[in-house]
Formats: sequence, C-alpha cells, structure tokens
Amino acid sequence: MCDLRLLKVHKVNIKDSPETMDRFKNRISTLQTTYKIYYQNSNAMQSVASNSVDLVVTSPPYPMIAMWDEMFIKQDPAIQKALDNGMGYDAFKRMHKTLDEIWNECYRILKNGAFACINIGDATRTVNGNFMLYPNHSRILQHLLEIGFTSLPAILWRKQTNAPNKFMGSGMLPAGAYVTLEHEYILIVRKGGKREFITAQEKHNRHASALFWEERNTWFSDVWMDLKGTTQKLRDDTVRIRSAAYPFELPFRLINMYSVKGDLVADPFFGIGTTMLAGMAAGRNTVGFEIEPEFSDAIHDRTRDIVNIAGQRTSDRLDRHIEFVNTRIENGRTFKHINENYNFPVVTNQEKKLLLNRLKAVSKIEKNTYEAVYSQTSQPKFSFAPETFTALQASSSRPQAKAKKKQLKKSSLAPVQLKLLG
Ligand SMILES: C[S@@+](CC[C@H](N)C(=O)[O-])C[C@H]1O[C@@H](n2cnc3c(N)ncnc32)[C@H](O)[C@@H]1O
Repeated sequence: MCDLRLLKVHKVNIKDSPETMDRFKNRISTLQTTYKIYYQNSNAMQSVASNSVDLVVTSPPYPMIAMWDEMFIKQDPAIQKALDNGMGYDAFKRMHKTLDEIWNECYRILKNGAFACINIGDATRTVNGNFMLYPNHSRILQHLLEIGFTSLPAILWRKQTNAPNKFMGSGMLPAGAYVTLEHEYILIVRKGGKREFITAQEKHNRHASALFWEERNTWFSDVWMDLKGTTQKLRDDTVRIRSAAYPFELPFRLINMYSVKGDLVADPFFGIGTTMLAGMAAGRNTVGFEIEPEFSDAIHDRTRDIVNIAGQRTSDRLDRHIEFVNTRIENGRTFKHINENYNFPVVTNQEKKLLLNRLKAVSKIEKNTYEAVYSQTSQPKFSFAPETFTALQASSSRPQAKAKKKQLKKSSLAPVQLKLLG
C-alpha cells in the first residue's frame, strides 16, 4: 500500500465537551486536501486500501459507442472479431466484462455506508444492418447488485440535442422510427447500510457540509435538466473531446450530496480530472486512475483555473441563497433559523452550521499530486451583522411594513432588499 496518507484531511482529535467543540469549530475549516492521480488501469487499484474511500464519482467509457471501441479492444482483442462478425451483443457483453473488474475494485475500496455515483449513457448502433439499443445502464446496475451494492433511485440527466437530424428511422412513416436518446443516467448505489456519523467531530463536520434547503430541492430531483456543458476551454481541445469530460456541475453536485468535507473521493475513469476539480472546489480529497498518461498536461492546465472557478461557484451559491431569502421575505414568509457563520436566515436547523470554505490555493506538491488549502472563515461579502435578519424580519412582519411593501411592489419599485455588509 502506498501513499494514501497524503490524502488525509487535517482532522483534529477532540473530546466532545463544549469547549473542545468550540476549538474544533475553529479548526474544522482549516481544511487542507490532497489529490493523487495514477496513470494506470483501474482494474487493479492496489495503491488504494480496501474500505478506505468515502465516495466514487465516475463515468466509464460507454460500451458500443464507437469512440471507445479501440480502448475496449486493447483490453480484449476478441471484441474486434465480434464487431467484424456483426455480433453486436457479443461485443457489448465483452466490453462490460472489462468494466466489471473495475466495479469490483470500486466495491473493495469503498467504506461501508459509502456511495458510488456512475454517469452512463445507453448506446444505439447498427451492427451488420441491425439497429439496436445497447442498455449500458441496466447492464452495469445488474453487475453492481450482483457484487453486493444496494441500488438507490437514479438521476436522469436530460441532455437536449437540437440537431435536426436527431431523429432515426422511417421519418413520418409509422412502425419504423426510433425515439431519440436524449438522456443519460447517474446510477446511485451504496455499499452496505446507512453511513454513521458518531463522534461530535463527525456530526459537526456533517452539519458544516450541509446544502441549502433550496439546493436540496433541485439537486435531489430525479431529473436534472439544468446541467451546463464544460465551462473550460482547453489549450488542446482534441483532448477534451477525446476524454469526453462531463460538466463540472455534475461531480460538484454529487460530491456535495454524498460526501462531507475532508472525505476521500475516487474516480477510476479520471479523464481530464473533472471529479478532482469538483473535489477541490468542495474540500474533498481525490484519488484518480487514468489509462492515458498523455492527459496529464491537460489535467495540470485545468488545476490553474480551479481557484477562480471554485470561487465563482461558491459566490454563486451564496448569491442565490441571498436571492432566495429576499424573495421569501418579500412574499411575507419568515425564517426560523439563522446560519451561525454568515448570520443570514436559513429554512432549516440543519443549515445553521453550513460553511462554504473558499478555496485559497492549489499547488503541485510532487509528481501527479496536488494540495489545496481553504479559508477558515465565511466570505465577508456574504456575512451579515448578527442581528440584521431578526430586525429585518420583525420590521417586515409589522402591518405598516407589509402595506408599504405591497405598495412598493405595485409601483414596481425595487423591493426591500437585504443590505450586504462587506
Ligand atoms: C468518459 S471518460 C471520463 C471523463 C471524466 N469524467 C472527465 O470529466 O474528464 C472515461 C475515461 O476513462 C479512461 N479509461 C478507460 N478505461 C480505463 C481503465 N481501464 N483504467 C483507467 N482509465 C480508463 C479513458 O481514457 C477516459 O479518459
């Protein structure tokens, strides 16, 4: 076993008394995370200990999508013969056999209670004149169940194709046309039962890693319609196309939904490292495996922009929350809870300790290894004086204030807005 020691967050060992909790509260945000990439086949992830990973977020090469044929054939030359002989289903089965080995490894490295989120699309293909759907998602899910994972409701990622030639088959004539595949899956499975958060430290960290209530409502929906494409331009765009990177938002959401700060996330199909970038933005460690060493320059390039990207995404989350608060107060609704780090209102008790640590810097500490450091305090721009909202809510619930607000709305003047102090 080698250097996963590096991937430990600087966790503190404390007793559960209130004083030590306070000390811990100040130190939990001194988050420091590590990222390690291995350029090797992930069917043997010997460098990762069994039961050591908190989450897998990944997207494999898609069987029966032509761009990945060569990669599968390298691992099992019989696939070429099957395709040449027009035996599409045989090729499909063989391609999945090579992936099965990697799902087995994922099971081994995951801790009990840990999730795996797998982005996969089905394929349609004509082999030997026979057009057919190759159901990758159900084939993978079946194997995951066979090896002991518990399946949970999946997410459909709706990807709209506007191309006029997207329809396949006999056009307007019945009984010969095929519906267009415009979605992919994010399969969600868990090893064992529910994850437990036992110590005060673990409980505190879980609360500090909470999502906003309004984010939960969108992110935990089973259809995602709003994922934008990859934002980053790479110097070598062919690398991006060859790697088939998913949008940053996909692993970013999943990581926030299924792990806590300081956790270790693994991606056995690393590509150009989108999972790692999302891990950097969210304060999670990452270990990745990629069979193509020539992606390393592109991966390194992307780490240069991540401080900005993470900063924008974090500000965006806080901006949206403040917008949500404004709208809710304008609509005459009140909040029962105030977040302790920002002093802004939140809907639930579970969001009171939420803190989005700002990513301060990412540095390469050795070959294929990076380290990230985070701010310990809430962003001044989004932090309010302690009593701001209590006063605002009290005033907005007084009858005169309500009447005034209505008037303001009617005359379409700007509504009462929360003043950012910072
Ligand atoms: C769909 S892409 C993943 C893209 C990645 N999610 C991203 O955003 O950059 C699949 C990646 O897995 C890699 N790959 C395929 N088979 C592999 C294997 N057996 N071990 C490690 N990497 C593999 C491919 O080279 C490719 O980069």
